[in-house]
Amino acid sequence: MTDYTDVCGRRLWPEARIVGGARSTFGRWPWQISLRQWRTSTYLHKCGAALLNENWAITAAHCVDSVPPSDLLLRLGEHDLASEEEPYGFQERRVQIVASHPQFDPRTFEYDLALLRFYEPVTFQPNILPVCVPTDDEGFIGKTAYVTGWGRLYEDGPLPSVLQEVSVPVIENSQCESMYRSAGYVEHIPHIFICAGWKKGGFDSCEGDSGGPMVLQRPDKRFLLAGVISWGIGCAEPNQPGVYTRISQFRHWINQILQF
Ligand code: ARG
Repeated sequence: MTDYTDVCGRRLWPEARIVGGARSTFGRWPWQISLRQWRTSTYLHKCGAALLNENWAITAAHCVDSVPPSDLLLRLGEHDLASEEEPYGFQERRVQIVASHPQFDPRTFEYDLALLRFYEPVTFQPNILPVCVPTDDEGFIGKTAYVTGWGRLYEDGPLPSVLQEVSVPVIENSQCESMYRSAGYVEHIPHIFICAGWKKGGFDSCEGDSGGPMVLQRPDKRFLLAGVISWGIGCAEPNQPGVYTRISQFRHWINQILQF
């Protein structure tokens, strides 16, 4: 339990909205981060993010676009925003570097990815552990992905205080486009995105979940970061799956930035 060198994607806490999901349990998603932004007098939850190592988190570029780094605060190891008594506490970190993808396009949300470097490294503990970055995403289609966050429980709905989780199948981009078309939207969804959701809707990420992780579990039980929550039209509508930034496509960019 003291050797954290090779822990990525592993749960250590034994037990061990999102729309249509359920409350998570403590320590189930130890890479989940609440990305907060200073508003008037306090930091409020704005987006999700995921922990990559002791110095870096990953989120969506649209969450940090034109926000001064000094206005951002990352809260790691959080579970129930309203509870002060949890098995392990949270850690908070200020942001030293915001590296948004140079090709991020706020009009199309293409390249919706940003890396955040902390001022001070975090100490891993059972509720604060990094997720694995995949080398490829072969065989992801049809697999169950898990999406987590403190976003709205339905479109224009309330925000939960307990971290929510939902499972959705990964779908092919061509199918994702044709689903949107049958819903009346002509969306071009290039391979830098990865879609997940059901044809009938009902289960999805929503506003406030953006930037958070979509993970898949490998046969060896470790969790891989397949996507970062980017966009959707409404939340959990039929034929309108959630659209995520496809992390395997950005492996080299991520590794380059993480050298800093
Ligand atoms: N872009 C939204 C945000 O800023 C959420 C995106 C996910 N939407 C969806 N229907 N899957 O939080």
